[in-house]
Amino acid sequence: MENVATIAAVRERLQTARSAGRTVGFVPTMGNLHAGHLALVDALRPQCGLLVASIFVNPLQFGPNEDLDAYPRTLAEDEAALSERGVDLLFAPSVEEVYPDGTTLQTRVSVPGLGDILCGASRPGHFDGVATVVTKLFQIVTPDFAAFGRKDFQQLTLIRRMVRDLSMAVTIVDVPTSRASDGLALSSRNGYLTSDERARAPALYRSIEKAAARIESGDAAFDDITAEAMASLEQAGFRPDYFTIRNRDTLAEPGPRDRELVILAAAWMGRTRLIDNRTVDRPLQGAP
Ligand code: PAF
Repeated sequence: MENVATIAAVRERLQTARSAGRTVGFVPTMGNLHAGHLALVDALRPQCGLLVASIFVNPLQFGPNEDLDAYPRTLAEDEAALSERGVDLLFAPSVEEVYPDGTTLQTRVSVPGLGDILCGASRPGHFDGVATVVTKLFQIVTPDFAAFGRKDFQQLTLIRRMVRDLSMAVTIVDVPTSRASDGLALSSRNGYLTSDERARAPALYRSIEKAAARIESGDAAFDDITAEAMASLEQAGFRPDYFTIRNRDTLAEPGPRDRELVILAAAWMGRTRLIDNRTVDRPLQGAP
């Protein structure tokens, strides 16, 4: 695996790959890689002649009181894992390389209606930061395929919409959430949990599973399902941010005819904000 830190070096490598007719796959990350990131690599490896990964802790997507400085940086381990998994090119730029004029006057990409709800409401500016850096990375790498995890369901939805709205020539591949054996979704932020918090954390997914079971059995009392989930999260020691049932494509409140839904939840365990989700299909009316 080749490791480059400049946009010019990525473009040079891409030119060679393109002229050899190779399909380009891309896995953008912020590093501190776990099995969930490696599953993104595995999803693209078979169909791509050149597989590019990036590691960049993007300051634009962190709020002023968030964990930018504390965000775990483990470049040497990440490099070894990506290389072992068959990544061809790693782009690990500095902040100055990506934002040479700083971030204040940086042109931003904003996805209305998706960037300011749910996690976007709790983390103002976060999704503009994500959309902006992903746009820049797509401009640099010009991938045919790019992989994103379903764990960040709102991010995935927003990126799909951005790609469509801006006519970007990239196919987004989504990859199922990787979980620990007790159900907790893998996340770099799990490393912030104390051992007691880690033991309680799987309650987040359990509350989602319970809600999904009620919906699948035909229960349409969404307010009640949500209230029960919020109470069970509090009981498990979480401070819930939101627990909600949405239309899977738009993330809007579901109408009575919407069958393809997603349950989305975000909750604080101590100082760590965890998110998780699960898609669920509402049964046809009259079906058992
Ligand atoms: O999901 C992430 O790790 C980040 O939001 C991403 C997509 C790499 C953009 O910084």
